[in-house]
Amino acid sequence: MALVIQNVRLAHRIYRLTVQGSYSARMGQFFMLRCWDAYPVLSRPISIHNLTEDSVSFLYRVHGTGTWLLSALQAGDKIQLEGPFGQGFPKPQGRTALVGGGIGAAPLLLAAKEIPESSVYLGYTGVPFAVNGFHEISRNVTVKSGGTIVDAVDPSRYDTIFACGPVAMMRSLAQKAEGTNAKLHVSIEKRMGCGIGACNSCTLTSAGSSRKVCTDGPVFPAKEVNWNDLHRL
Ligand SMILES: Cc1cc2nc3c(=O)[nH]c(=O)nc-3n(C[C@H](O)[C@H](O)[C@H](O)COP(=O)(O)OP(=O)(O)OC[C@H]3O[C@@H](n4cnc5c(N)ncnc54)[C@H](O)[C@@H]3O)c2cc1C
Ligand code: FES
Repeated sequence: MALVIQNVRLAHRIYRLTVQGSYSARMGQFFMLRCWDAYPVLSRPISIHNLTEDSVSFLYRVHGTGTWLLSALQAGDKIQLEGPFGQGFPKPQGRTALVGGGIGAAPLLLAAKEIPESSVYLGYTGVPFAVNGFHEISRNVTVKSGGTIVDAVDPSRYDTIFACGPVAMMRSLAQKAEGTNAKLHVSIEKRMGCGIGACNSCTLTSAGSSRKVCTDGPVFPAKEVNWNDLHRL
């Protein structure tokens, strides 16, 4: 069990939860979170947003019961964290862009910290949130509200692109990056039971073979993603 330091509402249904503890983790990894006993049965996977020497934070959107229960946490409350899990983003090569759509900004702050020279592109359907943390790290942050952030990204300017956001956004970025030298890696979501490769609930087909998002991902080369596998989320 860990102690909640802060749980701040940043925008409608958007919260940043900071939990006490010293963790060693890579950009793009996630934890399984729970702050309840019996119901819901499963813990919920949430990406690491930020790490300091004595805390880990998560940026999350209230979706259903689990994230609604998370949103009620207050400083001093207890929470169970398991992780870090997953492979995260690979080591980038050359000029790097980070592209986030909405709550997809969540795993990119840690990436921006690890690659401070990267260009950051953040797109929102409404009021932008969690942008200040990126401005503190990177001098090159583009924020767009409305439309699609993919319009602002020229993949031919980059060697590596990390993206997280709605499936339609990542898919259209993948199409735009086709024929360029940019290596695009996307962080994707599947419903998860265990987070550790034991339950098979997060299986998808990647590069023609069966993979698990929790242990093989959640980050995959965009070229290996079967986008049709992801439409139901
Ligand atoms: C690797 C990974 C990292 C994630 N990181 C973040 C993050 O940083 N911030 C954030 O807001 N959300 C993140 N999500 C999505 C988040 O896990 C779901 O929104 C959350 O589990 C929904 O739970 P709920 O109880 O509120 O909703 P419910 O609808 O009650 O959830 C029911 C079940 O569906 C699963 N589920 C529902 N939606 C999703 C989804 N989109 N992806 C995966 N499982 C889902 C739940 O885990 C649960 O098992 C991530 C998902 C994955 C797989
Ligand atoms: S969540 Fe259980 S195998 Fe991936």
